[in-house]
Amino acid sequence: MKPVIFIPCDAAALAVGADRVASAIAEMLAARGLDAEIVRNGSRGLHWLEPMIEVRTGHGRVAYGPVKPSDVESLFDAGFLDGAEHPLFLGETRELPFLKRQTRLTFARCGVTDPLSVADYRHYKGLRGLENAIAMQGADIVRVVTDSGLRGRGGAGFPTGIKWDTVRKAEGPQKYIVCNADEGDSGTFADRMIMEGDPFVLIEGMAIAGLATGATRGYIYTRSEYPHAIQTMRKAIEIARREGILGPSVLGSEHAFDMEMRVGAGAYVCGEETSMLNSLEGKRGVVRAKPPLPALEGLFGCPTVVNNVLSLASVPLILDRGAEYYRDFGIGKSRGTMPIQLAGNIKHGGLFETAFGITLNELIYDIGGGTASGRPVKAVQVGGPLGAYFPTSHFDIPFDYEAFTANNGLIGHAGIVVFDDTADMMKQARFAFEFCAVESCGKCTPCRIGAVRGAEVIDKIAAGAGLAEQKTLLDDLCNTMRLGSLCALGGFTPYPVSSALTHFPEDFGPRPQSRPQPAEAAE
Ligand SMILES: Cc1cc2nc3c(=O)[nH]c(=O)nc-3n(C[C@H](O)[C@H](O)[C@H](O)COP(=O)(O)O)c2cc1C
Ligand code: SF4
Repeated sequence: MKPVIFIPCDAAALAVGADRVASAIAEMLAARGLDAEIVRNGSRGLHWLEPMIEVRTGHGRVAYGPVKPSDVESLFDAGFLDGAEHPLFLGETRELPFLKRQTRLTFARCGVTDPLSVADYRHYKGLRGLENAIAMQGADIVRVVTDSGLRGRGGAGFPTGIKWDTVRKAEGPQKYIVCNADEGDSGTFADRMIMEGDPFVLIEGMAIAGLATGATRGYIYTRSEYPHAIQTMRKAIEIARREGILGPSVLGSEHAFDMEMRVGAGAYVCGEETSMLNSLEGKRGVVRAKPPLPALEGLFGCPTVVNNVLSLASVPLILDRGAEYYRDFGIGKSRGTMPIQLAGNIKHGGLFETAFGITLNELIYDIGGGTASGRPVKAVQVGGPLGAYFPTSHFDIPFDYEAFTANNGLIGHAGIVVFDDTADMMKQARFAFEFCAVESCGKCTPCRIGAVRGAEVIDKIAAGAGLAEQKTLLDDLCNTMRLGSLCALGGFTPYPVSSALTHFPEDFGPRPQSRPQPAEAAE
């Protein structure tokens, strides 16, 4: 049997030289007159081992990593095509502890298959959900999704089935499925990994959403910073059309569904659903007031489902295995699995999909191996730039929407960014305001003005102005932004600020070399 070598084409692997490794391997095969198939797969999500290459052997796939082009010759010399030992040998891929501890439902195929092979996709149980959905009424599809307990993975955690039902019942000349692939949160990459590593699962999920709600057109909205994802998704859509998965007759049924990719210039606020709809319509990415809900008056004024990539990519399995199968994972009202992204100063960063309920302690220490710097962990920020900072004393909180809310935090898109004890939490709090000021769409005053004033207050603290008075101002400002902002960009910026202030008060105070105040600079 011809050996098969898997070399990821995921952007994270490409960034550390996967293409150069692929070329070196192809050249070495030619030079040695050897025959092997090279498959460019998605990433398995063990980012510290990228480029991690695999070889299919008689006893499963074995992995080597991180591989540099200069390692290729010695890999061949050692006999890696037969899965032989080598200093970079990691063992059987499925036995790698980081993978073995996961429950991969949404990411089951990512890194396993050739992302653009429909045959591979079918072989690994793809399209079963869509086939089941075709045989069902829209209302029944919606019921399965509702019963599964799936909640939006984009940030707000809104029940997906309820959203779909609103669109299904809404009247309109046209309905749309819009996939939110903007993925602006810091430390997040799961949407990108799905688009690059298993694009058909997203296409299948969107087609099921179309069948469920009566929508016949779909758009995937992403940012220009994702060139590889855009390219792979575009190719996958073309292939899906050619294979009859998309088009006037989905898998030969009487249902029509087609979709296209749309690329934004990259503004954080364009991930907010109404701002994204404006951007999709060719307008400036400004937040729309709600109501009307996008489910009733969304894209071009028509009923629209807006869902995150991970929400939609979870649906095919739910339609394949049933609501109960999915709902059996998780805790409380957080059902199923969550692809958690470990980033920042962490030894073993990457994608870890697991049932809800796991604690931060397990994630950061047991799985992530602590900090990459080897220094003590000081804090983690969960849920993107608007998420709270948690000190290590809070690491026993289970990964659960309600538990995080009860601790003044949010799960968001499940990005965890780790900081060691050199982090300056006052700087981080200032950064939250700065970020909000830069990314604000400018529509409402608490966010547009509040973010700028917030950064100024922190500068005053750093300059030694009356601490108690400035902290009171900061509290007041945070309350105004939380309660008075039109969307969560302004409304949630207080989370990182207040959490930094609450958990790390010792970091807030005068700095010897603080930046000059605008007022001082002008004098
Ligand atoms: C400032 C801001 C940025 C957001 N960015 C994203 C994003 O990048 N991706 C995403 O799916 N949702 C994002 N959201 C949440 C969306 O508004 C929306 O709730 C989500 O796309 C709905 O999909 P879901 O129900 O599947 O989570 C953002 C929200 C805000 C306020
Ligand atoms: S909170 Fe900020 S981003 Fe949101 S609508 Fe107001 S100004 Fe725009």
